[in-house]
Amino acid sequence: MTETDFIFTQNQSILIPNGSATWKTPSNIALVKYWGKKEPQLPENTSISFTLDACFTITTLEYNLKKDKGKSDFTFEIYFEDEKKEDFKPKIQKFFERIEKYVPFLKDYNFVINSRNSFPHSSGIASSASGMSALALCIMSIEKELNPSISDEYFNKKASFLARLGSGSACRSIEGELIVWGEHKKIKESSDLFGVKFPYKLHKKFKNYHDTILLVDEVEKQVSSTIGHQLMHSHPFAKQRFLQANENISKISEALQNGDIKSFVEIVESEALTLHAMMMTSNPYFILMKPNTLKIINKIWEFRKLTNANVCFTLDAGANVHVLFPENEKEVVNKFIVNELVQFCQENHYICDRIGIGAKRLSI
Ligand code: DP6
Repeated sequence: MTETDFIFTQNQSILIPNGSATWKTPSNIALVKYWGKKEPQLPENTSISFTLDACFTITTLEYNLKKDKGKSDFTFEIYFEDEKKEDFKPKIQKFFERIEKYVPFLKDYNFVINSRNSFPHSSGIASSASGMSALALCIMSIEKELNPSISDEYFNKKASFLARLGSGSACRSIEGELIVWGEHKKIKESSDLFGVKFPYKLHKKFKNYHDTILLVDEVEKQVSSTIGHQLMHSHPFAKQRFLQANENISKISEALQNGDIKSFVEIVESEALTLHAMMMTSNPYFILMKPNTLKIINKIWEFRKLTNANVCFTLDAGANVHVLFPENEKEVVNKFIVNELVQFCQENHYICDRIGIGAKRLSI
């Protein structure tokens, strides 16, 4: 599929006067990381993520046809957890500008956006993936009203395509359980334009995989991902990093199919540390890990050596630690987390999450 397949072509004179759509959309955690992009929000390398379940956003989009449809600018109000949020507007305005070509009916409506997260806003968990994908799905529900003939497959692909233009990683939050974003020769049907489901059979060892998120530092991100991605443009190791990520996609694809958890652990941890190594070696450089992040990592390594448990960690662009482990080891690993790791979390806060199946429409 190409970008032009996503341009809305339905007769513009057919417009629905008003309505609303509500979607619940999960967050995701990358195993091979997206860090570096080019215009228009295209990844420099392929990434793959677990779709999560307990960390989600619920967004309702109400739409009312304007009297002077098509003439003015976008008109919308945003409420986050019942509070009007003027400061969220520029990001949404930019998102609407980027996607207008594909959903030209946006200017015909007055919108009210209502959003809430299952996780605390200040938890350091990025909400752009779940937030942007929820909004993209709500917009696709309007498109479906205007053109009921679109297939579910097209609906999901275009939702992922639109979400990507809001935030790159958001394109991986439409479906589950494992999503690949970025064209890759070993992953059939993969594309830079949208996320696709991992197209091979996932080994049973990875079914119901757990992700316990240890909240080490509950503050808003110190460096936005957008700025971080920009720093990859002039990064001395960028070229090598993109090659490495693409090789890791081939390796992790094999491991996920063969049930090779040892290789999975090596790739996932190396990816997390490489992401942070990129931040530490960019100009300007920065460190997002905190002392407790390192304490947790060392504890996990000690525990793994001692018990041979298949537990590992990953990080996103912050200090929190995602602890990943298989379903059949949950008793022993949960005990280890509670007894040894939770002490390093801010106010002992952590979230028990696991692999999920993707977004769900809550309204009919
Ligand atoms: C470290 O998707 O938040 O989480 O495209 O600028 O919105 P934008 O960035 P974003 O970057 C996510 C980076 C990451 C790795 C990943 O999720 O793959």
